[in-house]
Amino acid sequence: MAALNGRDLLTLAELSSPEVQELLHLATQLKSQQLNLRCHKILGLLFSKASTRTRVSFTVAMYQLGGQVIDLNPNVTQVSRGEPVQDTARVLDRYLDALAIRTFAQDELETFAKYAQIPVINALTDLEHPCQILADLMTIQEHFGQLTNLTLTYVGDGNNVANSLMLGCALVGMNVRIATPNGYEPNVTVVEKARAIANNKTQVTILKDPYAATEGTHVIYTDVWASMGQESQASDRNPIFQPYQINTQLLSLADKDAIVLHCLPAHRGEEITNEVIEGSQSLVWEQAENRMHAQKALLASILGAEEF
Ligand code: CP
Ligand code: NVA
Repeated sequence: MAALNGRDLLTLAELSSPEVQELLHLATQLKSQQLNLRCHKILGLLFSKASTRTRVSFTVAMYQLGGQVIDLNPNVTQVSRGEPVQDTARVLDRYLDALAIRTFAQDELETFAKYAQIPVINALTDLEHPCQILADLMTIQEHFGQLTNLTLTYVGDGNNVANSLMLGCALVGMNVRIATPNGYEPNVTVVEKARAIANNKTQVTILKDPYAATEGTHVIYTDVWASMGQESQASDRNPIFQPYQINTQLLSLADKDAIVLHCLPAHRGEEITNEVIEGSQSLVWEQAENRMHAQKALLASILGAEEF
């Protein structure tokens, strides 16, 4: 029960395929209550961006493990007054057992991890959203009973969620297709890492055409067209992304048993229609619930929780 004992999770690329499989298995056991774990530790949440799911699911997961959470709102700590990250990290290290950080730059997260010896977890940066993707993979496995021989298509902005999805799919042996407009492709370095992980056993395909990308796919996924921090670009982006909307027409090209995922929050009428998100193929609420189970597994593994 100590597979990831003491480790950081800054990017999905630092997990191996067996480690991801083990986390998903653990999350499933925790969800079905086949396993009860205890860990009397303290997690800090340092979030510089808004959050509903990540904040609440981390908090509830930690409480259910018997631990505690401190919400380190940057506005009421010295972080917002410019205390250097190196200093904050070394101090929090002496109080907490783990720290989940939501911020803008991946570099800032890496600096925290460098200066704090405690495990640091990426709760979303501009580059990645690894905890989201653990829940997504859990949802897919739960629905299809497997992860191999499946294709996931992401249509929309090549953002943090798209980047982590490429890595996650490559790690579990799924094909992944990312369809974005010109200029909004996923991070090139992450694409290369995902391809190296896939090692030609599965495909990581980047394309422009949302229709070609959706043809026969098993999972169709989207996210907002303007992420947190990009709100001022929304009116310029909306017309560019319109062909990438998940609507019934696009969904009809996917496999007839395909499922629809969205990390939420969703902008109905933009990246996804109300009809599709509320439709029978949508698993977005199960997906949101699984954030808690997947993160409980992650915390249990990192913090060395024990069976009771
Ligand atoms: N999907 C997700 O991370 O949601 P929140 O921004 O509400 O945490
Ligand atoms: N790409 C979105 C995800 C929100 C969970 C953002 O970064 O705002």
